[in-house]
Amino acid sequence: MPLNIVRNDITKMKVDAIVNAANPSLLGGGGVDGAIHRAAGPELLEECRGLGGCETGSAKITGAYRLPCKYVIHTVGPVWHGGLLGERKLLSSCYRESLNLARDAGCESVAFPLISAGAYGYPRDRALDVAVETIGAFLRDHEMTVYLVVFDRASFRIGERRFQAIESYIDDHYVDLRLDKNRRVQSVGFPPTPAPMAYPQECAAPGDLREALDMIDESFSEMLLRKIDEKGMTDAQCYKKANIDRKLFSKIRSDRLYKPSKPTALAFAIALELPLEEARELLEKAGFALSHSSKFDIIVEYFIRQGNYNIYEINEALFAFDQSLLGN
Ligand code: APR
Repeated sequence: MPLNIVRNDITKMKVDAIVNAANPSLLGGGGVDGAIHRAAGPELLEECRGLGGCETGSAKITGAYRLPCKYVIHTVGPVWHGGLLGERKLLSSCYRESLNLARDAGCESVAFPLISAGAYGYPRDRALDVAVETIGAFLRDHEMTVYLVVFDRASFRIGERRFQAIESYIDDHYVDLRLDKNRRVQSVGFPPTPAPMAYPQECAAPGDLREALDMIDESFSEMLLRKIDEKGMTDAQCYKKANIDRKLFSKIRSDRLYKPSKPTALAFAIALELPLEEARELLEKAGFALSHSSKFDIIVEYFIRQGNYNIYEINEALFAFDQSLLGN
């Protein structure tokens, strides 16, 4: 999955590079800066002394010493002053500059903390949006695996206003199978088992019937490729928008009977911006159905009904509700 959101201590991440939320002196500090210097050992500070500091929005790269990665990329985020002093632009530059340095160093995987979202006071949800948007833009043109490492639960308070609408949608639709074991599951919205495919009414000419029959035999991979063509997308545009890496897409493209996981199948439905019915159809080809006994399914259904196909936004919500993410 090109962009992952994970809960971890960044000093434990086994990636090619981790990013440090430093200050302009690059001589260490508290928070993640302190944690990285403690875990790397004194040699890191020695190397930093020779860098001559770093400007806000810029980034510099060093070795990683005792850390389980190859490089540390030090970037200096903006201090939050209410958002009117170019903070967003500077924060976005931190992610972009760090990713460019990682690319130039040949890194295939990078882990970021939420830069500026601690001592520098950047509101967490806005800091997350800037991170996801900037990393997402970079990943549209580059092959890399990026981790956004969330260290404390508070970074994802579900109470945040933007998750409240999703929370009430879950409350309205979630059917807890454990509570309903004696009652037939009443699912609102659409049947838990996919409805049998209805033939098109005006199925007059045999050709149409044959086409309709072909559609039933159409595999997941065939339907996916057909939809990509119908949407006028390139393969790369589709799998990048689906937060799927090239390797997995090539597997799906070359094996007409490939059976993806549910998060992967749904990620393609989102990338293709399929309406709910067609999303269900694509999912069915992979052997799955959307169900109201799964919060994951309900959250994805919520975004499709809202017409919001931003996979990064959906993944932030899925992460906030402790669900697996869309992509592979
Ligand atoms: N792993 C991952 N994330 C962490 C860790 C860790 N070990 N420790 C803290 N964080 C998270 C915080 O929860 C916060 O969400 O990193 C994010 C950034 O917080 P800070 O480390 O305070 O960084 P920032 O807000 O950019 O302030 C930078 O703080 O530490 C000093 O020297 C640093 O002066 C600079 C300022």
